[in-house]
Amino acid sequence: MPETTTTAPPSTTTTGASIHLQGVTKQYPGQARPAVDAIDLRIEAGEILVLVGPSGCGKTTTLKMINRLIEPTSGRIVLDGEDVTTQDADALRRRIGYVIQAGGLFPHLTVAANVGLVPKMLGRDHGWDKQRIAARTDELLELVGLDPAVYRGRYPRELSGGQQQRVGVARALAADPPVLLMDEPFGAVDPITRHRLQNELLAIQEELGKTIVMVTHDFDEAVKLGDRIAILDTGARIVQLGTPEEILTAPAEDFVVDFVGKGAALKTLTLVSVGDALAGLAADGTTTADGDGPDPALPVLPARATLHEALDVMLAAGQPAVVVTGPRDAVVGTLTLEAVMSFLTRPAAARADAPAGHGAPAGDGAP
Ligand SMILES: Nc1ncnc2c1ncn2[C@@H]1O[C@H](COP(=O)(O)OP(=O)(O)O)[C@@H](O)[C@H]1O
Ligand SMILES: [Mg+2]
Repeated sequence: MPETTTTAPPSTTTTGASIHLQGVTKQYPGQARPAVDAIDLRIEAGEILVLVGPSGCGKTTTLKMINRLIEPTSGRIVLDGEDVTTQDADALRRRIGYVIQAGGLFPHLTVAANVGLVPKMLGRDHGWDKQRIAARTDELLELVGLDPAVYRGRYPRELSGGQQQRVGVARALAADPPVLLMDEPFGAVDPITRHRLQNELLAIQEELGKTIVMVTHDFDEAVKLGDRIAILDTGARIVQLGTPEEILTAPAEDFVVDFVGKGAALKTLTLVSVGDALAGLAADGTTTADGDGPDPALPVLPARATLHEALDVMLAAGQPAVVVTGPRDAVVGTLTLEAVMSFLTRPAAARADAPAGHGAPAGDGAP
């Protein structure tokens, strides 16, 4: 590996903008009731907000009204403090990246042409000459984990589903928008690829700090990715809006209990990363270091993977532990099945003591 070719971080990083939906309604012609009925929702700059809810409840309609791919019937959309409800829709969409299932790539365009689409449309007037577009395309392919030299000339059909999805994310980020909208982006890939893409999205978000609004029907995905989750019912009625911890530990209505489903305890494993779990165990004085280095037979997970994934890979591999790696694949430690189980049976207050990524509140503290 040539060690001198370090990738510069994206040169022009715009961070997230807040989004405020004020009484936004969509009444489709010929429908008895509005698909989205006066939704009020404030999405903070730099957060990942996940919309979940049953099929047909208005998730996609809500999302597409943010960039006005669907025009609201009434209400206001405020982006970064600016009313964009009647702003030129093309100009608005340049400030908002959009990712759909399977990437939504154009099959007759190469990977590079797909990624460079928006900068090319913006053109020289906005400073996008051929050279800058090519450089930006390579930078983004690196960011999403695709070697530009290998992939820039390929066509979508020559990529796996996961790779197509990565290109879709790169394309959405091309003009460095402050906001990303993602509609069931990882719905079409297998579970292992999905976990990998989720981890990559979290890594990218750590670097870029965009405002991300994501739709999913996978509640575990919502818990893993969301800083906050909005649970929607018919007409995009917000049944509950809160952090994953709040929703798992204090569901607002029977509807939420049903939606979260059985096994809420098991789902709490999705709240804690294996890296945080190791750090928590070290703080407890439970050592995880093993002198001879990790057993090569053990499965390996990155530190940001969840305890839920750890349990999954241990069961799949028939091994009682996973090796946890950090930056540049350096081994951080070994997490045992026993340790994962101890996390599951700890009271919620003790779990909150671990430095969990979602900033769980500390326990009430018994009297
Ligand atoms: N173009 C359309 N014309 C008429 N009705 C629509 C249209 N798009 C969606 N709907 C209806 O609006 C409701 C919400 O749809 P949608 O936002 O796609 O839901 P979700 O993404 O939550 O599954 C559904 O009842 C759907 O049938
Ligand atoms: Mg939908």
